[in-house]
Amino acid sequence: MRNRKESAVVTKDLVKNFELPDGNSVHVLTGLNLEIDQGEFVAVMGPSGSGKSTLVNILSSLESLTAGEVNIDGVHINKLKTSELLNFRRSHSAIIFQSFALIDYLTALENVKLPLIVRGVSHSDAETKALQYLEAVDLYSRKDHLPEELSGGEQQRVAIARALAHEPNIIYADEPTGNLDAVTGMKIIQLLKDISHNMDITVIICTHDHRAARETDRVYILQEGKVIEEKSNEIRERTSKKRK
Ligand SMILES: Nc1ncnc2c1ncn2[C@@H]1O[C@H](COP(=O)(O)OP(=O)(O)OP(=O)(O)O)[C@@H](O)[C@H]1O
Ligand SMILES: [Mg+2]
Repeated sequence: MRNRKESAVVTKDLVKNFELPDGNSVHVLTGLNLEIDQGEFVAVMGPSGSGKSTLVNILSSLESLTAGEVNIDGVHINKLKTSELLNFRRSHSAIIFQSFALIDYLTALENVKLPLIVRGVSHSDAETKALQYLEAVDLYSRKDHLPEELSGGEQQRVAIARALAHEPNIIYADEPTGNLDAVTGMKIIQLLKDISHNMDITVIICTHDHRAARETDRVYILQEGKVIEEKSNEIRERTSKKRK
């Protein structure tokens, strides 16, 4: 048993089947167990089709589960009603996509601001927060650029600023470096690592990239919908972690 901090994400015997129109079902997660600490930076690896995206979609409540338990920050999310689940997701987590998912006719600043405004934050507070987090990802000087005027790495940093602006406990990133060259990809991984360790945010990434995985605290390797290996990378001192 490892010496645990508070757990942020725990799954017990997590099962996910997709029911097909022809009556067959696809067994994707087949009894998956993991336990991730608050503030940990974790990689989920495994062959294509092993269930990485499905797992992250369930943890971030984009997808329902078939059986088993998912406990996020002490809440059994499988016991929440749909409306409660939506609120829970909004208040706890943020998601970063491989394709960045920015709105192409909005500037970097507007892309970070918009979801805050949709949530009811005032324009001036949304602007303050958006600028703060664009600064945190070192993009203040590009705040008025459209996505097409930004490099891939810069676009991903806008997406990270947008995630941070929600001040989540957990950030999920499904192949966050998949559309980036190796050097830019490693800079994004470094940024996610800093966010995890300096802001005490749990960061869970899916990746095929072993170099990226080496930068994390812990790697879960999936095969056929189960964790077949859990590797702890070098334990670092993380005593100075504090949320802003
Ligand atoms: N909506 C769906 N309906 C049916 N099958 C699905 C659905 N979504 C995913 N699957 C199947 O679930 C399995 C796992 O998919 P998933 O996307 O989780 O894999 P992955 O590990 O993320 O793969 P990759 O590395 O290619 O991204 C695949 O066999 C896929 O075809
Ligand atoms: Mg995937």
